[in-house]
Amino acid sequence: MEGLAYYIETFGCQMNEQDSLRAGERLKGAGCREVVSPAEADILIVNTCSIRRKAEEKAYSLLGRFRALKRRRPELTIVVAGCVAQQEGERLLDRIPHVDVVCGPHHVSEIGRLVKRSREKRQRFAMVSQMTNSVEDLECPGIPARNGLKAYVTIMEGCNNFCSYCVVPFVRGRERSRPCRSLLEEARHLLERGVKEVTLLGQNVNAYRAPDRMGFGFPDLLAALSGLEGLRRLRFTTSHPKDLSAELIECFGSLPPLCEHIHLPLQSGSDSVLEAMNRGYTRSVYLEKISALRDRVPNVAVTSDMIVGFAGEGLEDFEDTLAAIRHVRFDSIYSFVFSRRPGTRAARLEETVPEGEKLRRLHVLQAVQREISLEKNKALEGETFEVLVEGSSRNGRQWMGRTRTNKIVNFSGPEGLTGRFLPVTVREGCRNSLRGDFAAEHANPEDRGRCLSA
Ligand code: SAH
Ligand code: SF4
Ligand code: F3S
Repeated sequence: MEGLAYYIETFGCQMNEQDSLRAGERLKGAGCREVVSPAEADILIVNTCSIRRKAEEKAYSLLGRFRALKRRRPELTIVVAGCVAQQEGERLLDRIPHVDVVCGPHHVSEIGRLVKRSREKRQRFAMVSQMTNSVEDLECPGIPARNGLKAYVTIMEGCNNFCSYCVVPFVRGRERSRPCRSLLEEARHLLERGVKEVTLLGQNVNAYRAPDRMGFGFPDLLAALSGLEGLRRLRFTTSHPKDLSAELIECFGSLPPLCEHIHLPLQSGSDSVLEAMNRGYTRSVYLEKISALRDRVPNVAVTSDMIVGFAGEGLEDFEDTLAAIRHVRFDSIYSFVFSRRPGTRAARLEETVPEGEKLRRLHVLQAVQREISLEKNKALEGETFEVLVEGSSRNGRQWMGRTRTNKIVNFSGPEGLTGRFLPVTVREGCRNSLRGDFAAEHANPEDRGRCLSA
């Protein structure tokens, strides 16, 4: 494997991003190097997502483009990893003759070994067995994101909820939690390397149960991590509304690093749709939890996921969804059109909403939310927030950072601010971000000196 060049393209959620980082780290450990162009690679890895049909199609289209490369260089190894790999298994080898290795999400960290076997023995194969007791595949030394300030830590994987539309429990398997000892070690290691913000990752983080400590659940993990030196910001994604316990709500506002933001997918505002989705809560239960959270931390940012056009969703159901959005006033929403996924319960339901109507509902929902996001951001004008500066803004002319509520702030300032926590006053609230000014008068003396003199 020494000297081989690999290229990874990642689709899907942060879980996949994290898996790709882990795979890359192992490949580098085996002497490989990463390249940014598929044409220069000896190993091509596509880490796939199958949450919606479109995500799956993107992976197939990229693999289609790799066919010409393989024709030119038959010694190339092409790997399909991730959730489509798990869903399709060996069928992928028949369907795409230029694919060499099919590797489910539980085997991504073994990619080096699998590629070696395929190259040495000239074999094509699928590795899609699922782990049930072991979490060894999730162990990792801790990898900071590119600018070294933020990192994800996978605390659990899989899901036992079986929402009727969702493939995740099938492709990622049942819930498995990592030992708290190794999580704390990983976090400590990251903080020693200068990471300031840690996001705990899992399909349902609230279901976390430490296998190495009796009765140690997610709130206990948050408390333990909050005590680590150097941790300024702690986040998590995603927690399920039905498992948002009073104990977890209490963590907000009492654990200093825990940021005032929660991503809490509602999916629909209609009780009958929620039931058909098997979400395990009603709209009023959801609203009560949000109100308990806001009682505790009034400025908490709440974001959500919504699905429109679920099988059986009538116009009144959709109106209920709009009403719920207007009631909660989310800071932002990821919204999707319902997509039938193979093997799920909802795939057997009769589709009642035509594609055009699904799209219409999506656009209506997004327009309603756009207005709310804008109003909420405008309401912040004149306020000053602590911003962690992540680097230069998209246009390269300003700085970009985030508030604790996870809002993007662009502002002007002198050189060398990356990695600093600075007070920034919001000058203008836009739909997806804030524009601000460095608030020298709020800065601690060290920051003031540095920013004004530079
Ligand atoms: N584990 C997380 C998120 C899972 S996937 C959770 O439960 O909150 C991210 C989002 O994709 C979901 O919240 C849902 O809104 C959307 N999604 C999942 N399956 C879908 C499908 N079949 N069609 C459309 N959207 C879907
Ligand atoms: Fe999918 Fe539901 Fe599990 Fe989220 S909670 S991963 S939507 S089954
Ligand atoms: Fe997609 Fe798999 Fe994540 S289906 S959303 S990559 S868990």
